[in-house]
Amino acid sequence: MHAWATSEEVFVADRTNNPLRQGLVGERLPEPASIVIFGASGDLTKRKLLPALYTLACERMLPPSFAIVGFARKAMTDEEFRAEMKEACSKFARSRPLDPAVWDSFASGLFYQQGDYEDLASYQALKTRLATIDAQRGISGNRVFYLSTPPSTFPVAVARLGAAGMVDPQADRPFTRVIIEKPFGTDLSTAQTLNREVLGVLSEKSVYRIDHYLGKETVQNLMVLRFANGLFEPLWNNRYVDHVQITGAESIGIEGRGGYFEQAGILRDMVQNHLFQVLAITAMEPPVSTSADDLRDEKVKVLKALRPIPEGRFDEFVVRGQYRAGTVAGRRQVAYREETGVAPDSKRESYVALKIHIDNWRWAGVPFYLRSGKAMPKKVTEVALVFRGAPLRLFGETARVAPQPNVLAIRIQPDEGVSLRFGAKVPGNTMDIQPVNMEFRYGTSFGTEPPEAYERLLLDCLLGDQALFTRGDEVEASWKWISRIHKAWETERGEVEMYDAGTWGPDESDRMLLRDGHQWRRP
Ligand code: BG6
Repeated sequence: MHAWATSEEVFVADRTNNPLRQGLVGERLPEPASIVIFGASGDLTKRKLLPALYTLACERMLPPSFAIVGFARKAMTDEEFRAEMKEACSKFARSRPLDPAVWDSFASGLFYQQGDYEDLASYQALKTRLATIDAQRGISGNRVFYLSTPPSTFPVAVARLGAAGMVDPQADRPFTRVIIEKPFGTDLSTAQTLNREVLGVLSEKSVYRIDHYLGKETVQNLMVLRFANGLFEPLWNNRYVDHVQITGAESIGIEGRGGYFEQAGILRDMVQNHLFQVLAITAMEPPVSTSADDLRDEKVKVLKALRPIPEGRFDEFVVRGQYRAGTVAGRRQVAYREETGVAPDSKRESYVALKIHIDNWRWAGVPFYLRSGKAMPKKVTEVALVFRGAPLRLFGETARVAPQPNVLAIRIQPDEGVSLRFGAKVPGNTMDIQPVNMEFRYGTSFGTEPPEAYERLLLDCLLGDQALFTRGDEVEASWKWISRIHKAWETERGEVEMYDAGTWGPDESDRMLLRDGHQWRRP
């Protein structure tokens, strides 16, 4: 940090210890590097990764010397890979239609290497190929390996990278960073094992566990809202907040992913990772700085403070649901049990609602209600802080409408923005009170579309900034809490409550809140 830096510059320059980042945001340009994508013939590569990298190229955020090497079992030439990726980017990139000049230069850095994830010789061949590409394109050995393969291959891929001498955990330059897709384990013990296996080869500073929700502009804005404003933080505690609701609803069903979903369920698919990250950012203390470790230390403290569900009172805190057939936004949705790959008597949850207490000074006594479900009326992800009422009902006698609680709602997606609900006097000669909203909308205020989460995350990894990636202890802390629920379900506790597709979940979920005198928002 320079002595003459302005306060804005200090904020940005302090974000990382990486000297490359000692500048303003607009100057963030990574060093020459190759990104190797394991699982390059998969859906994520086509829908998200290549489109994100292409958009970064359009925005001149990629270094001039750059290569992307697809690695997968399928036989393909470089030319075939380029053609497939061109089609994918034309369909899914944010910067569309493709700019022919940018595409040509981007495509000249695309390569494909066939290989088997288990076979050491494939890694040795990849190593030789990367050295040739380095020499051709002026890259000095910096690598990012992106594991977008089935989770069962994560340990072997990392082990083979080590055995082939492709990673040096001690070396800062050239750097080797490994991005690991979700799911990181399926419970506490598998996550611990995976951490051990990965950290047997790599150091924590080269492991980038991805949770794409952290790459969402609106999730980052939660931190900005809290810590770059003086207004909200004084109210952000149990003196003023009555309860918090976090919703991650989707209108889609499981979309042909029956095999996966039967193993996962919504608790593993959405809650352990995405919603817990949102919960941690909503509840954490202000970090000492925005460096990766300071930020992650605070999130871990929240996850450690989650009160375990009390034995014998399971039903008060967890509702598991599954959709029957129904209609979602005019579209017919088959029942979960009729989806391909799903057992006809499956108990796997497509919906879950949780009541969580955070046993710390700030949040004691404030319930956090979380819900996530498939086949709901619409897609909506939001955090809502519902505030306590005014201490005295001054207008109680005369007002015809009872004042409703103030709500600060942070809309993560869609219609990204923030709204604040408060009571206003209805014009006229009575003292009637009506709730009104003060609105901030990204579209209106900034007039631009927020970037895709993967753009930001890939760029941050190239820059060596782990702030928006999860740390090993953080993942374990969240599994520790979640795994207790899976254990209880295994012992047949907790009924599966059915709900019609296209509704807001089982009635039991409403009853869980009603018992506390609350009700779910209908966003
Ligand atoms: C993924 C889950 O991690 O997140 C999917 O596997 C889910 O089931 C998706 O649909 C939701 O992500 P987003 O960004 O669309 O909210």
